[in-house]
Amino acid sequence: MPFTFSRQFQAVALGCAFFFSRNGVWAAAENLGGSQQQQCRWNLAGPLAWREKGVDTCGRPVDDKAAGQRIWSYTPACAHPESGEGAPYCVYSYKENRGGSGLSVLATPEVAADIEGFLGDPNPTWLHSQAQRYYQDPQLENRAFEVRDVPGKGKGAIATRLIRAGEVLIRESPAILNIPQLPKGVLPAQVGGMFELAVKQLPERQQKRVVGLSRGDADDGGVDMSGDAINRVLNTNSFGIHVKDHFMAALCPDIARINHACRPNMFTRFSHETFTMEAVAYADIQSGEELHLSYLPLNLLSEDRKAMIQQWGFNCTCSLCSSPDKASESDRNKRRIQEILDQLQEESNRTPEKVETFAQELFKLLDAERLMFEAGNFASLLTGVYYSMGEMKKARQVASTAVSNNTLYLGHDSVKVQSAKELVEMLAAMDWS
Ligand SMILES: *[C@@H]1O[C@H](CO)[C@@H](O)[C@H](O)[C@H]1NC(C)=O
Ligand SMILES: *[C@@H]1O[C@H](CO)[C@@H](O)[C@H](O)[C@H]1NC(C)=O
Repeated sequence: MPFTFSRQFQAVALGCAFFFSRNGVWAAAENLGGSQQQQCRWNLAGPLAWREKGVDTCGRPVDDKAAGQRIWSYTPACAHPESGEGAPYCVYSYKENRGGSGLSVLATPEVAADIEGFLGDPNPTWLHSQAQRYYQDPQLENRAFEVRDVPGKGKGAIATRLIRAGEVLIRESPAILNIPQLPKGVLPAQVGGMFELAVKQLPERQQKRVVGLSRGDADDGGVDMSGDAINRVLNTNSFGIHVKDHFMAALCPDIARINHACRPNMFTRFSHETFTMEAVAYADIQSGEELHLSYLPLNLLSEDRKAMIQQWGFNCTCSLCSSPDKASESDRNKRRIQEILDQLQEESNRTPEKVETFAQELFKLLDAERLMFEAGNFASLLTGVYYSMGEMKKARQVASTAVSNNTLYLGHDSVKVQSAKELVEMLAAMDWS
């Protein structure tokens, strides 16, 4: 039976679409990778080989001693463990990435080799339509926002026209990818020069954007190219993605300009296929409104949210944090979502009328709490409920909304879209009536 769903809303919901690092604290995790990403499916040979399994298009691990660095523009520079045993930590740069925006990867040779498998520009005509748009409009010339000083917050991104929910405002390949921890035996004192190199090996335009980002508490507004300053930029502005099964901190200089809010009007999704992060409008946004992303999982109760934000050394001042009434209403709604999920597990509640009523309330609450990115998860869950009741027509209906919702919120090439599609196909194959 494919229908095994987590009973716990927290467990379901904590698998949120992104997670961020602030001053080195990793907030929460989601495994975007899964078994599907284990292979190098990126075959530059062409579309006929697109879905072929086990084709070796991965890179080969190289360090500062091995010749033949393939795609990388420079010989990697590495810090080796003092003991001489174990993986080094190296900087790899690829100048041509995405039409010259450049990419530096700080990682072990194995991780860098896996990332190499995703680089290089593919032929756009054999991409998913969502991915094709990246190539048709790579710069998103008509920007719908501008970066300005925001009182009390440094800089922020402000909408310059009405933006509709679902609109992609930024599409950018990460400038720097970093593994979250140094390999065993490599000391922080060894790697400052590599942070510097990671930036210096980027195109000049990209260097400026990286060093212009906030350094958190240590920000004095000046330009600082030292390894320490760059490390701070990375810690303050990166967010977590999975490339294959590697968790990486990704620095996207444009997206990093968007400030935090607990109930944001933007979300991000990462596509392996185009190797880009997209910042997408989560709701309609009026001209003059500030754009916000949540740096935290969206489904936290207010106490947990406060605690996490305080770990980063500041107090949350977004509208949800500042209003105790709003915060407690939001907590009530989230608890109610959990309650509904529990109720749906009860056999006695599985009548068409009851399930319909629960489903309506559930999606209304998701909407109210800006938890719509969970709609696909919950639609899959409801598919299972309807299926168990023998309500095949309803099951098929909600199964297809799981596909469209997951495509919107997680990206067309996420593993959850894949599994939602498999569910639709399975239900279609069961249709004997
Ligand atoms: C955050 O709020 C607490 C309690 O109101 C206060 O004691 C603390 O100084 C504040 N911290 C910052 C960084 O503003
Ligand atoms: C997401 O799911 C909700 C609830 O089923 C539905 O109303 C909405 O149209 C779906 N959105 C997309 C983009 O599929």
